[in-house]
Amino acid sequence: MAFSQSNDTEKQCADIINKTDILSEEIISKKINKKYNIIIFDKIDSTNNYAKNTNNSDLKIPTIIIANEQTSGRGRVGKTFFSPKDTGLYMSIVFSPEKKINELDLLTITAAVSVCEAIINTTSLPAKIKWVNDIFIENKKICGILTEAVNNYQTGKVDKLIIGIGVNVNNPHNEFPENIADTASAINSPNTDRNNLCAEIVNLFDKYYSENNREKIIEKYKKYSLVINKRIKYTKNNKEYYAIVKNINNSGNLEVINDDNTEETLKSGEISIIPIVE
Ligand code: BTN
Repeated sequence: MAFSQSNDTEKQCADIINKTDILSEEIISKKINKKYNIIIFDKIDSTNNYAKNTNNSDLKIPTIIIANEQTSGRGRVGKTFFSPKDTGLYMSIVFSPEKKINELDLLTITAAVSVCEAIINTTSLPAKIKWVNDIFIENKKICGILTEAVNNYQTGKVDKLIIGIGVNVNNPHNEFPENIADTASAINSPNTDRNNLCAEIVNLFDKYYSENNREKIIEKYKKYSLVINKRIKYTKNNKEYYAIVKNINNSGNLEVINDDNTEETLKSGEISIIPIVE
């Protein structure tokens, strides 16, 4: 029994490694409900950089830019995003918003809900959202989202929005750089096909963005939240706080009660979840 179980595991790992889900514009465009220009690079510095630095007239907005590998993948707050070849989905959804900038406060939350739900729909794995917009499976980060806006200073409007999404799809031996080795993981499901996952993310994002239903998106965000009722640590004005997360409000802010019983509403920043030791 033990012998056959380990054989099964080895076979599953080999299947994951040998999977050839080659990124395909044709497959993705057939699965996407709305018309998008799709650009796929085998290797690029960063799909978000490409989206930012290319003129709108050359991009044919709306566009999805995808890479099989990124040499300078970027994360939030100046961090890098590890983007090795063949094993991840690195994509930027680029569009010009009709909404005003003050109506876009739930954009990142909408993206997080769409990516989380797309992973659940395509893998059946219990993906969760760690505030604000990291996706976790079993307490490890498998996806990050970097939303950027390019402003037109002449018109005062947002010229284009870039939703950069990086999903670690296959990394069965957890080969990550040392600084993220303890916190990062990958989907590692033989069912995951990057073309399918990409199309599902785009379709859900389009749906939720155009519905523009604040209550629905916040309800879903709360449903997938990894942090409600969890003990967390955060830093404010160079001071460290420990708190329990009580709620996520209608603006997507985190309502917490600090250990000294004071209440705080967090609008942005990084939090760490503190495991409860029994
Ligand atoms: C984070 O974890 O802080 C966000 C990571 C975002 C990574 C994606 S991969 C596609 C796009 N291009 C980039 O350079 N970054 C985003």
